[in-house]
Amino acid sequence: MTDTDDDGDLEARLVEQESFEPAEEFVSQANVSDEAIYEEFEENWPHSWTRAADLLDWEREYSEVLDDSNEPFYEWFPDGTLNASYNCVDRHVENGDKNRVAIKWEGEHGETRTYTYQDLYREVNEFAAALRDLGVEEDDVVTLYMPMVPELPIAMLACARIGAPHSVVFAGFSADALATRMNSADSRYLVTCDGYYRRGDALDHLQKANEGLAGVDHGVDATVVADRLGDDGFGHDLKGNQHAWDDLMDDHQGDRVDPVERNAEDMLFLMYTSGTTGQPKGVKHTTGGYLAYTAWTSHAVLDLEPEDTYWCSADIGWITGHSYIVYGPLALGTTTVMYEGTPDFPERDRLWEIIEKYAVDVFYTAPTAIRAFMKWGSQFPERHDLSSLRLLGTVGEPINPRAWKWYYQHIGNEECPIVDTWWQTETGGMMVTTLPGVCTMKPGSAGPPLPGIDARVVDTSGDEVDAGRAGYLTVEKPWPGMLRTLYNNDERFIEEYWAEYSDPDADEWVYFPEDGAKIDEDGYITILGRVDDVINVSGHRLGTMEIESAIVGVEGVAEAAVVGGEHEVKGEAVYAYAILEDGYDGDDEMRDRIVAGVEDAIGPIARPQQVIFTPELPKTRSGKIMRRLLEEIANEEELGDTTTLRNPEIVEEIQNKVE
Ligand code: PRX
Repeated sequence: MTDTDDDGDLEARLVEQESFEPAEEFVSQANVSDEAIYEEFEENWPHSWTRAADLLDWEREYSEVLDDSNEPFYEWFPDGTLNASYNCVDRHVENGDKNRVAIKWEGEHGETRTYTYQDLYREVNEFAAALRDLGVEEDDVVTLYMPMVPELPIAMLACARIGAPHSVVFAGFSADALATRMNSADSRYLVTCDGYYRRGDALDHLQKANEGLAGVDHGVDATVVADRLGDDGFGHDLKGNQHAWDDLMDDHQGDRVDPVERNAEDMLFLMYTSGTTGQPKGVKHTTGGYLAYTAWTSHAVLDLEPEDTYWCSADIGWITGHSYIVYGPLALGTTTVMYEGTPDFPERDRLWEIIEKYAVDVFYTAPTAIRAFMKWGSQFPERHDLSSLRLLGTVGEPINPRAWKWYYQHIGNEECPIVDTWWQTETGGMMVTTLPGVCTMKPGSAGPPLPGIDARVVDTSGDEVDAGRAGYLTVEKPWPGMLRTLYNNDERFIEEYWAEYSDPDADEWVYFPEDGAKIDEDGYITILGRVDDVINVSGHRLGTMEIESAIVGVEGVAEAAVVGGEHEVKGEAVYAYAILEDGYDGDDEMRDRIVAGVEDAIGPIARPQQVIFTPELPKTRSGKIMRRLLEEIANEEELGDTTTLRNPEIVEEIQNKVE
């Protein structure tokens, strides 16, 4: 959606406004409202990061903040010990907040479940005891393939309690994607669910989980199946090593498990994400640095207080849900809301209904959702009293100024600041965003780097670009929430993130997030999008290579190329170009088989918007597919230079096929 579109019922006076100040009422109560924090962090770096670590309870205090003796394998608070489950649950119970609500869960049909910190303590302990009983030991990776049910954060915290890293696989991913991740992590335990509801229908999740389990090479020691559907279930019998969640909890009723003392650098979880190759990357996050960083950013950026009711509408299957539904908010003792369903069920006001019902103070969502709300119109939020809101946030992709302003006017009533937070699975938490109690907001620009974060915009040789010029985003100092490595693959870790701009001989290590960016004269960074072969569909990160290899796996397909094309609501959509083997026709049946192949390999989120059959792909003389051209064709843009092509005649032919 462009800024000249006139839908979205935005007040004319806001259209021209380029910057916004946070309301005095917000600033006066903000957790951080003094701009001196930027200088303070710079002057005392890295010691300034104790501010984050001090938000946690350490079992053994750390004596050192940063060990950078083996760059880029940084260690944060390396000799400290702690337990993440203790920090997110026990300490709030011990501090007299046991009756405060930890999790408010709302099912798609409107049923609710409320867990106080005391309830959460009991459930986490019982499930931790059950996992132990099943044979899970410290450092065993437990895979959690679950939708948005309370059993998911309970299982995460139970894993953390016994020092078993979790690997959450988004429930919308396919059986194959589950198997790939379990194989890669050598994970022998799975916690899953019978199903869940989507737009009123019960979905059979266990069937998919079982298909995935069949593809796990090393075998699986135990599977736990939570019951979400009750009588709507699909009646699958549990097999030999499969256990019903409720039975295990009955068996362990009243059990308590001491939180295991973990080293700060011990792995808290693995999260698989897409990269430039066909194989997803297992991003490793640690106990001390990650938890300190998510707690700190929840405090400083989301402005969370224990008394708040806070809602992040992401799915826990992605990093946003890990950091800002579970770990950050619970570490601070806040009430976190979880919603199972979609924003338009039963009606398009569902999210606003939930905000009113729970009197949500802080709301964090994705630009793709805001663009959909805008399209639906302001009559839906207007049906509800949203005056409990104090702060709004966005994450996952660039937000265009018009969508920002619509959010500001119709959801925030021009009173709530908006934080546009740039970060990644790898960064663990927010990196570039305004501090809502300090900074002027400029719609479309994420803002300055957070205090202590040395983000810059550079050219191809690593020199900083002038204000207003496009370049590449880099981070030139480490930070506590950073990934430590890619699981079992230190080499790929260095290659993917550090090779581009570092100079190991000079001991200069620069993190490259693979995003393009611009910086203005005030140091505000505007993110321009990925510069690698990763596309961003509805805020979900997908590797084009993964989709291509799924398409090439379909019988009759000889070659495929996938690019992102602009999409009004999703941001980007998948455009697939396919070359067929002789004897196969590019007809509807073939198209359906390709779509099904992608859904089976990855999941419905990667479904191509268009499949374009072509006899050839545009290639350079050295045989490389010219993706830029394919993107331009998908976006119906004017084509750039085609003179270096080996087969320029193919371009027009492809152009004619794009709908
Ligand atoms: O391209 C950037 C985009 O999302 C990518 C990270 O995707 P993922 O690891 O799935 O994490 C998403 C949630 C943290 C980034 O490389 N991105 C994320 N936030 C923003 C963004 N692009 C522009 N503005 C943002 N606020």
